[in-house]
Amino acid sequence: MPTQNIYILGIESSCDDTSASVLCNGKILSNVVASQKIHEVYGGVVPELASRAHLQNIVPVVHEALKRANISSKELNAIAFTQGPGLLGSLLVGTSFAKSLALGLQIPLIDVNHMQAHILAHYIDEEGFNKPPFPFLAMTISGGHTQIVLVTNYFEMEVIGETIDDAVGEAFDKSGKILGLNYPAGPEMDKRAQLGNPKAFKFTKPKVDGLNFSFSGLKTAILYFIQNNLKENPNFIEEHLNDICASIQHTIINILMDKLKIASKQTGINHIAIGGGVSANSGIRSALKAAENKYGWTTYIPKFEYTTDNAAMIAIVGYLKYQEQIFATQNIAAKARLKI
Ligand code: KG4
Ligand code: ZN
Repeated sequence: MPTQNIYILGIESSCDDTSASVLCNGKILSNVVASQKIHEVYGGVVPELASRAHLQNIVPVVHEALKRANISSKELNAIAFTQGPGLLGSLLVGTSFAKSLALGLQIPLIDVNHMQAHILAHYIDEEGFNKPPFPFLAMTISGGHTQIVLVTNYFEMEVIGETIDDAVGEAFDKSGKILGLNYPAGPEMDKRAQLGNPKAFKFTKPKVDGLNFSFSGLKTAILYFIQNNLKENPNFIEEHLNDICASIQHTIINILMDKLKIASKQTGINHIAIGGGVSANSGIRSALKAAENKYGWTTYIPKFEYTTDNAAMIAIVGYLKYQEQIFATQNIAAKARLKI
């Protein structure tokens, strides 16, 4: 047990959620997320609007995180922030804020890779949640990424498969848009899928070699399927919405599970974790649970609030790096493209 309490403030601003979290020795004391509703009307994130909203949100969100954690900024030991990948304008807000606060408080600054954070969120101390032992496989499934990562240590990760076009979250969002659902469509697709028949409609799975993924063909197939059916029946979407959602979700989950099976076979690793916004999906969660009995896997599914973008995952990486004394300097810059 640590003799001293280490408090880390985590800041996340890579896309359209402004978030701040306070962590004490691996435990989350607060995790405040301000989601930007402004993008809904545009059917996707508008980068310029996102950075403006981050500017407005960052001070009150950090303030609220400290308040809920019941500590003052003077008690913080370090500030961790998302360096990338993400939207540059959005990242700049969090990065500049974190740098100034660390400078003002004279405490270490810690840069965090957003995609590593989605994976390392599994190391947050949470009752009822186990931490994966090394090595394990992590599938990051979000609005911007779809990767299978071989994780050999906290900071030793290798991408062994990834999407060659759209991310899986985009597959949900873009097909949802075709059906007239609001952005981001993933959560509503999920809700409707639970009320529909996953075998009502069949969509062909893409043929991509090895551990890579492709989702853009599926989106086009769905578009043609809907257009053709609307010609016959203008009410096709309304009459079959739940079944369409269930069938799309079923196809997407099969694509993900097929690749995970190959990855597990190839590496001989049976500890499988998921992370990123799409890991909130009820279908992928139950498919993974079922795989425990079917394939002898041990699976790690994040607590719901640590799936979509949040600063708790940034704070835990901050804590892991703090223990190793891996700090950034004031020269560090935000990076839109940052590899795992
Ligand atoms: O990780 P995240 O919050 O942001 C990125 O880094 O992209 O992921 C957002 C993505 C969106 O595409 C959203 O539609 C999807 O996660 N998502 C879901 C669910 N909840 C969020 N997709 C399917 N089912 C859900 N329940
Ligand atoms: Zn994310």
